[in-house]
Amino acid sequence: MIYLDNAATTLQKPPQVAEAMLAALRTLGNSARGAHEGAMDAAHTIYGARVKLAAFFNCPRPDHVVWTSNITESLNIALTGMLGPGDHAIATDLEHNSVLRPLYRLEAERGVAVDFVPADKRGCVDYADFERLLRPNTKLIVCTHASNLTGNLVDVKRVAAIAHAHGALLVVDAAQTAGTRRVDMQDLGADVLCFTGHKGLMGPQGTGGLCVREGVEIAPFKVGGTGVQTYSKTQPEQYPTRLEAGTLNGHGIAGLSAAIDYLNEVGVEKIEAKEAALTRRFCDGVRAIPGVTVYGDFSGGHAGIVALNVKDRDSGEVSDILSGDYGVATRAGAHCAPRLHEALGTKEQGAVRFSFSWFTTENEIDAALAAVREIAEEA
Ligand code: ALA
Repeated sequence: MIYLDNAATTLQKPPQVAEAMLAALRTLGNSARGAHEGAMDAAHTIYGARVKLAAFFNCPRPDHVVWTSNITESLNIALTGMLGPGDHAIATDLEHNSVLRPLYRLEAERGVAVDFVPADKRGCVDYADFERLLRPNTKLIVCTHASNLTGNLVDVKRVAAIAHAHGALLVVDAAQTAGTRRVDMQDLGADVLCFTGHKGLMGPQGTGGLCVREGVEIAPFKVGGTGVQTYSKTQPEQYPTRLEAGTLNGHGIAGLSAAIDYLNEVGVEKIEAKEAALTRRFCDGVRAIPGVTVYGDFSGGHAGIVALNVKDRDSGEVSDILSGDYGVATRAGAHCAPRLHEALGTKEQGAVRFSFSWFTTENEIDAALAAVREIAEEA
């Protein structure tokens, strides 16, 4: 199989990820629930990973790295824990349902007001719209670092400057950029940085988290056992325990920790350069094929994602042919990005998304191009 669905999850992981998980399965007890060897091993593994992730994202405090099961949970925690009645939030049309649905629910259940910065036909935003939509009660702006559909980057630094000049906070969804380019929360100006472990970070599914700037208040989304302050009827106040009720995924975190070591060894800049070259090769190739429409803007920064359609063929059918006849794995349909599909005019047809990783080769890109060419010729 030629695996080009890395925006959904990376399938090829560095071998040390599985090795670390297997070792952890054999040795880890429950962190913060004992002082025996197994419990301490878990505590060291989990705290060590916080230190690594904090350095990786330039989060000033390791105890402000909070573990979750995926970025959907991270975004639910951030948005639900920060927005209440009377608050206003701004998001964009580029957002994934992991941002949209929590916001829609907050609108319906808490009376939070929400506005969306529109995307144009290329899937781009106009930064003046963020300014235009600000209100005196705007509590936060939440936006993706890169669209999971077109791969277009958002100038998060610019959005942070707009938010902060107005006294609002910025929550960043780094699902498609963490691990594939430098994501420095302080440089970006993110007050909360949400990430997932199983995509560009090349860790296991079931891992993710959020990095919270000191001073940012997030009310707990779930409450329960923490191993500390047992007789208190309320969740402990301090980070990260405040947001981490229940046993943590120590085995997954061990795998993610090994993945971060690998990324540091290779160098994120090298990964970014390789993915950019692969994306350019694929994009130039498909654009030259008659009948292929490519979505998004390739004039600026871009994640390793290219979405396209072949004439008026249903995207699901094209993806099935790619998989069944050519062994090329892609993702078709709506990609949990309903507002952006509407902006691009692809609500009915969907789009076929190709997404690359550090392990993708030029030969695989060329084989995928040949497959798209044949399908377009037959269509
Ligand atoms: N959010 C993931 C994707 O874009 C699952 O495919």
